[in-house]
Amino acid sequence: MKQYPNVFLFDHPLIKHKIGILRDKRTGTKEFRELVEEIAMVMTYESMRDVELVPVQVETPLEVTTGYRIQSESVVIVPILRAGLGMVNGVHRVFPTAAVGHIGMYRDEETLEPQEYYCKLPPDIGSKTVFLVDPMLATGGSACDAIDALKKRGATKIIFMSVIGAPEGVERVAKAHPDVSVYVSTLDRCLNEHGYILPGLGDAGDRLFGTK
Ligand code: PRP
Ligand code: URA
Repeated sequence: MKQYPNVFLFDHPLIKHKIGILRDKRTGTKEFRELVEEIAMVMTYESMRDVELVPVQVETPLEVTTGYRIQSESVVIVPILRAGLGMVNGVHRVFPTAAVGHIGMYRDEETLEPQEYYCKLPPDIGSKTVFLVDPMLATGGSACDAIDALKKRGATKIIFMSVIGAPEGVERVAKAHPDVSVYVSTLDRCLNEHGYILPGLGDAGDRLFGTK
């Protein structure tokens, strides 16, 4: 992925450790949900380097100096429903007052084409940094359409975070949206004939919400 300057892959021991447990089919819903949240928080630390800081005057016990405050209000978190919901709390741990927009997408099981069924965003999205989150980046169709939907409604600064990416999906998003920073925790081998990521972790939405 070196050919795409907007793609950032993680090589962090803590994330590797957590993804190993996430992949394990014996990991239950509660632990799965907690891990997705923790990974999202660690990813946010890494991907927030360009987020706005405001200098403030601080009085230490010894003298006055300049401190910095993150403007959580300048951030909007947008999960792609359903599975993206699992990452929201992790991002909120870093930006506690960020507003949350929602984009509903499901993949047609036959065509693998994403279908948008819901979109509700804060009105002033154009002036915010949008953290678009979805744990799985498979064909890239859902992410590309969600980014299109955000741009159509005025978003200009978009960071996309995904836990597991397939090479074809990462490439598709990186090419279609070179202005979007794409953060992926781990790059897997390929997709199977049903559009599932290999080795992957199965259906993220079902594992997060116990629906299978
Ligand atoms: C999953 C996942 C992504 C999408 C990725 O959602 O959460 O949104 O598939 O696949 P793609 O890159 O090929 O588009 P799914 O459609 O299973 O819906 P769900 O989250 O409601 O389970
Ligand atoms: N969506 C998932 O939840 N898992 C995959 O492997 C691919 C798409």
